[in-house]
Amino acid sequence: MTSASTAPLFNPFDPAFRADPYPFYDVLRTQDPVHVSPLGFTVLTRYEDIARALRGAEFARDIEAHTPPPVDPVRLRRRENFQRRIAEGRTSKSILNLDPPDHTRLRRLVTQAFTPSAIERLRPRVQQLVDHVLDRAAERGSIELVEELAFPVPFQVISDLLALPTDRTDEVRDWSQCLTASLEPTADEATLDASEAAAMQMGDYLREVVEHRRRNLGDDLLSGLLQVEESGDRLTTAELLSFVVLLYVAGHETTVNLIGNGTLALLRHPDQLRLWAENPGMDAQAIDELLRYDGPVQQTVRVPLQPVRFGDVEVPANTMVMTVVGAANHDPAVFDDPHTLRLDRPNARNHLAFAAGVHYCLGASLAKLEASVAIGSLIRRFPDVELAGEPRWRDRLTIRGVDHLPLTTR
Ligand code: HEM
Repeated sequence: MTSASTAPLFNPFDPAFRADPYPFYDVLRTQDPVHVSPLGFTVLTRYEDIARALRGAEFARDIEAHTPPPVDPVRLRRRENFQRRIAEGRTSKSILNLDPPDHTRLRRLVTQAFTPSAIERLRPRVQQLVDHVLDRAAERGSIELVEELAFPVPFQVISDLLALPTDRTDEVRDWSQCLTASLEPTADEATLDASEAAAMQMGDYLREVVEHRRRNLGDDLLSGLLQVEESGDRLTTAELLSFVVLLYVAGHETTVNLIGNGTLALLRHPDQLRLWAENPGMDAQAIDELLRYDGPVQQTVRVPLQPVRFGDVEVPANTMVMTVVGAANHDPAVFDDPHTLRLDRPNARNHLAFAAGVHYCLGASLAKLEASVAIGSLIRRFPDVELAGEPRWRDRLTIRGVDHLPLTTR
């Protein structure tokens, strides 16, 4: 671990912070748990405060509606462009960026497809995809985990769910990566422009797919969403498109990192890898601990609608509050010995890796299913699996993950 003792308290530009943020979170949590950053937002690192902000009705998720226009001209232009496209009916805020009652209405429409029992029905398909990849690894004696397993499996599953073609995988992947790059607190003008362009290209592509599906309905999720739209006049095309974009982005920018980060954590703790390989019954518990230990989403944001007091600090209304769930998940007030990976940790499932409250991750059951089948099958089939080179981390703070993980499976 890096020494954070002399570093500024919250400096997302520091490469050491991005490489291993946990020691920095510890310093913040102990020295300044409600940190007013010179970057213009408040940073929360205590579990209790973060859970309160995520669950409380006095906190909003729709930043645009509840914060003043950005001072930075690039961010201002971006916001104005987005608002113009909304007014023209070409796009819409996604479920993730809405507050009740609009959020409640959209969430009710799309929830059915993601219930644990609906997701459980996908298990044989996920297992088939994973086994196919592992068969190839067995033949070769090696696997590059991210490219061969962690990315393609969730991508194929979300494409299956929506019955979307997979002929433009590379473009969809590039667009998704551009979109999530803009979530970084350090995003510069080029990154923000690229993300705006990607949103438009992805929207155009999906609009074509949706129009085609409208004329060729099937029994997939997209057809289901279209029929809800037709019959009840409830889901507009723009809402449908922004939901599908979100599913795609969430479908491959997060689960891929759970599989990557989770496998790496196990390789670095061989006793825990063995424990899980020998006890398949602990799948769910193991995945929760991997989510807690090094989760793919490190932070999200909320906006208090009125002044809110955390301890002796009052956070003003209508300002950005960064809820660092990665720090909450390592808070010793909740998790004993938090930097130790313990797959049998009794309260691991209290982690906030999927957030909490009304925006609690809609895809949580799907992500857990995919990761437990992918990692569980890998370590049971290849109990001696080893690193075959240095893992490479993507240089990101909000969505944290390895993007290269070569393994030997002999
Ligand atoms: C390990 C993988 C995943 C992680 C760590 C994760 C994390 C999160 C988090 C933290 C949020 C809430 C953000 C906030 O409150 O500001 C969220 C929301 C969401 N996630 Fe996930 N996610 C994952 C996988 C998925 C998958 C596979 C899907 C769907 C295919 C998905 C769909 C969504 C949707 C639609 C929302 C918005 C829910 C709402 O606003 O009501 N996620 N996710």
